[in-house]
Amino acid sequence: MFIAVEGIDGSGKSTTIKELGKYLVSKGHNLFLTAEPTDMASGKQIREVLAQKDKESPLVHEMLALMFASDRLNHLREQIWPALKEKKTVVTDRYLFSSIAYQSTRVNYEWVKGINRFAMLPDILVYIEVSIDKALDRIDVFRHKKELYETREFLEQISANYKKVISEFEGMMKIVYLDGNVDMDEIYSDIEKKFEGVI
Ligand code: TMP
Repeated sequence: MFIAVEGIDGSGKSTTIKELGKYLVSKGHNLFLTAEPTDMASGKQIREVLAQKDKESPLVHEMLALMFASDRLNHLREQIWPALKEKKTVVTDRYLFSSIAYQSTRVNYEWVKGINRFAMLPDILVYIEVSIDKALDRIDVFRHKKELYETREFLEQISANYKKVISEFEGMMKIVYLDGNVDMDEIYSDIEKKFEGVI
């Protein structure tokens, strides 16, 4: 089973994934936790660009879109497919929907979708819904240096893009919506409630 977890920066994704992992293990799943950008060379290059000071150098967004799409294919070939072959439950922190939601704030939406067309859909998309205020609070608390896409205006656009892309893919995979506004100790029970009957 292949699960992708998505949400804007500051949605509480890391904690949610930990709790989701615990839940899946309790249900007998053999977990493979992974993330994008990956820890492979293709992913490391992306993190360097994201942390760059000059955020608006020519073609940076086009280049990033291609780098994310390429890192994703590498991810599928090198990590996701081998783990699925071993009957593991793969949970990825970000996937295809991140590219469409984030990169299309700056480059053409359909083009981003197009360059990602070889990325197979997950069985389940977990989307964490969070208010922009809550997300910004979390970003301020946990990080000193804001990355390329972490401003209110961007988060609003990214959130709208997520809604658009999710509505386009509805019916092609299962979608579980989690509440990203709840406190850490309530996440597990939200997962239990929302996953009932899904896996
Ligand atoms: P992270 O903070 O969840 O580790 O993700 C790193 C940043 O990369 C985050 O701001 C979202 C961004 N991102 C994209 O813009 N496009 C993508 O396809 C992926 C996977 C991440």
